Amino acid sequence: MTHPPTLILRQGQLLSPTGPSDCVDIAIEAGRITAIAPHLPQSAEVELNVQGQVISPPFVESHIHLDSAMTAGEPRWNQSGTLFEGIEIWRERKQSLTLEDVKERAIATLKQQAMQGVLFVRSHADVSEQTLTALKGLLAARDAVKDWITLQVVAFPQDGLYGGPQNEALMEEAMRLGADVVGGIPHYELTREDGVRSIHRIFELAEQYDRLIDVHCDEIDDEQSRFLEVLAACAIRTGMGSRVTASHTTAFHSYNNAYAFKLMGFLQRTSLNFIANPLINITLQGRADTYPKRRGVTRVKELWQLGQNVSLGHDCIQDPWYSLGTGNMLDVVNMAIHVCQMTGIPEIDACYNMVTWNGAKTLQVEPEYGIEVGKPANLIVLDASDRYDAIRRRATIRYVISQGKLIAQTTPPTPQWQGPEEVQSVFDQTGLLV
Ligand code: FE2
Repeated sequence: MTHPPTLILRQGQLLSPTGPSDCVDIAIEAGRITAIAPHLPQSAEVELNVQGQVISPPFVESHIHLDSAMTAGEPRWNQSGTLFEGIEIWRERKQSLTLEDVKERAIATLKQQAMQGVLFVRSHADVSEQTLTALKGLLAARDAVKDWITLQVVAFPQDGLYGGPQNEALMEEAMRLGADVVGGIPHYELTREDGVRSIHRIFELAEQYDRLIDVHCDEIDDEQSRFLEVLAACAIRTGMGSRVTASHTTAFHSYNNAYAFKLMGFLQRTSLNFIANPLINITLQGRADTYPKRRGVTRVKELWQLGQNVSLGHDCIQDPWYSLGTGNMLDVVNMAIHVCQMTGIPEIDACYNMVTWNGAKTLQVEPEYGIEVGKPANLIVLDASDRYDAIRRRATIRYVISQGKLIAQTTPPTPQWQGPEEVQSVFDQTGLLV
């Protein structure tokens, strides 16, 4: 016997990776999508007519540090704005971390993200401290939120895998405690040799514990920082490419083209995933430059043109490295379009895909991601007519449906013109504020 749906979304434009479809109805029952059709005859307890607005799979935040989120100014502000002052401030702040402190800030941030349509998150957890408090706090948060958001936790050796005598053992302990992903930071190891060695060790651990890999790779303006080639070589030799992610790769911005083009040939032999974090890297990078100042964001457009899987992340929300941010993925996309000069319509659409389908591929959650009959009912409705409109206006996320339940709704603001009447009629004609 089939049950009636508990929720029907009526007449929304269903986005696909290549464009919108015609308007459809979507039925949801017991947490899953049970039917998609131009007009569904059945009725449901809750029906939402979305009147042609965009229905999209949820946003994927593929790179964030929830353990440090919402600590900006603690114990002091990052006055230089550099990555390295951020690391120093975090070293001071993490002395006072408690499991509850980490867990509560993480859940508060995840709630803020979910309200804005993010239902899949990969967060790094600093595993450089003896107590592994950041990791334990995020693992506790992962469990606490699992009914409404999927959280992956990366064991991230912020101070280097070989930066302290205990760090390598702490990484192994993080694997045993249940971290989903092995992380790394080769450009911050004490020597280049340590950086290379750290990548080989990361691959060994990933194979031993059957985990994914996500390395902070070459997040520096130094054109001689060339650990991406090591990551690519390991991916080629192990065949693990699709399970491996290169995050940041900002030095790629500064490589000479002769080297960059050679490297791109190697990258094409892998299925590596790339994550750019344009909000933070446009503020962190180029700090040692006078003028011209480098943008420092990795070559997003070229990697996309090459066919590599590129996704986008916030990296930080209100922490020692980046004091701004709200968790809105449309802010991230907007910045990527500007910094990476991806203003053509196919490029704008591609940038939207980088915070949805591409992110799902990076996190390897594709089997449960996407709006198809039989899949978990995770979807969002945007107050927008298409991707371009959503990005340009940072569209309000009208409804967020997670595992079949409506978990958030937001009414778009409706500004009221109080000035001269003739101006009002111009607005009415142009629809500028509509
Ligand atoms: Fe990061």
